[in-house]
Amino acid sequence: MSTLCRMRRNMSFTWKSLQKFSLEPTRPLTTTRQIRVLDNNVGKMTSISPPPECLFKPMNFPHKVLMGPGPSNCPPRVLGANALPLLGHMHPEFLLIMDEVKAGIKYIFQTNNEWTVCVSGSGHAAMETACLNLLEPGDTALVGINGFWGERFADMVDRQGIDVKTMYRPMGEVFTFDEIEEALKKHKPTLLFLTHGESSGSTLQPLEGVGTLCHKYNCLLLVDSVAACGGVPMFMDKWEIDALYTGSQKVLSSPPGASPISFSDRAKEKVKKRVTRVRSFNFDMNHLANYWGCDGDVRRYHHTSPISTIYAIREGLARLAEQGLEESWKVHKQCAELLQEGLEKIGLELLVKNKSSRNPCVTAVKVPDGVDWKAVTEYAMKTYRVEISGGLGALVGKVWRIGVMGYNCTPDNVSLVLRALDEGLKTAGYSKL
Ligand SMILES: Cc1ncc(COP(=O)(O)O)c(C=O)c1O
Repeated sequence: MSTLCRMRRNMSFTWKSLQKFSLEPTRPLTTTRQIRVLDNNVGKMTSISPPPECLFKPMNFPHKVLMGPGPSNCPPRVLGANALPLLGHMHPEFLLIMDEVKAGIKYIFQTNNEWTVCVSGSGHAAMETACLNLLEPGDTALVGINGFWGERFADMVDRQGIDVKTMYRPMGEVFTFDEIEEALKKHKPTLLFLTHGESSGSTLQPLEGVGTLCHKYNCLLLVDSVAACGGVPMFMDKWEIDALYTGSQKVLSSPPGASPISFSDRAKEKVKKRVTRVRSFNFDMNHLANYWGCDGDVRRYHHTSPISTIYAIREGLARLAEQGLEESWKVHKQCAELLQEGLEKIGLELLVKNKSSRNPCVTAVKVPDGVDWKAVTEYAMKTYRVEISGGLGALVGKVWRIGVMGYNCTPDNVSLVLRALDEGLKTAGYSKL
């Protein structure tokens, strides 16, 4: 019996046995010549294009330290989980892993919400899930825009043909409680959207009390915490947040492609009482809640889950659970302060003036006049293989953004990024004097 047959029979995979089947580059018989084959439909010889030559070469795979606003590097245990053999998406063992992921999300969100799942897709998929389920014609969404992500959500709402109202703050500033109340009174929205950790303006929106305020005005509160959750305090239930989502590739340090989302009972009720059907089958929370075992019903096939990505986020959540939320919040705060002090020592100016409005996970720092921002990031990448990002939206060319999140949140990584930036600036001819 071949090794492969034995493996299939026993279903017991070991790394050694798997390595035997690693995909080594093979030489194509022909890559440039057209191949002639018999076309059975017409009974004539026809030619097909050759396979692409690039696929016969090994992947180019440099190691990089990802210190932008995401993705962050994954720890070996997450990468190991990602490489485990597939289970079926309805297999009991996999459903159990999904349950563990659900428990992990409840922990990092600090919620007991029944409707807590992972949407298949990156943060945008969770954003659309919230938008598509919580709004229908006749509703009004009030969107807080103090950066790229409010703009993006307003766009999503508008695409649904739903009334969208906006309130603005410059990038680098957050909304005050009074401003929010004024806008709620004025627009009488059914949903308020706020970005918790704005990765473009690097702010952290205070949320305590906002949920209660929204409920006073018969409005649901939706929060985007893709670039903050896990790295800063979050109390979904205590803060009366109705819908909350995050991403897998930031503080959770797992690959993109599975995004945690949770709906409060109020939000669930809103979805259940819709007059119109959710306009997406893929993102319909009624189906997702069933597949994720949130409705007490027999779990039905909805779509094929990104199985490997779910293994990985399970490990990302396990890592954070083992570290403990309080410790993670503490370490993110310490590393952010270390970074921000270091940046100021170099002579750079932080975008967010008010210390208490800074998102510890992502820091935006101004590009000094006359400095070519790209030359500096290129220096950092070429010399240290460290990623520093440029600005997003209105701040393109005006700021650099540095992410210190999850597995990458260490004093050593902060020192590395500061050294790379400092040297890059000197190379670009910048001197603070
Ligand atoms: C605050 C915020 N919201 C949403 C997203 C979208 O997430 P994704 O790129 O995973 O789709 C991002 C991505 O950086 C983000 O920072």
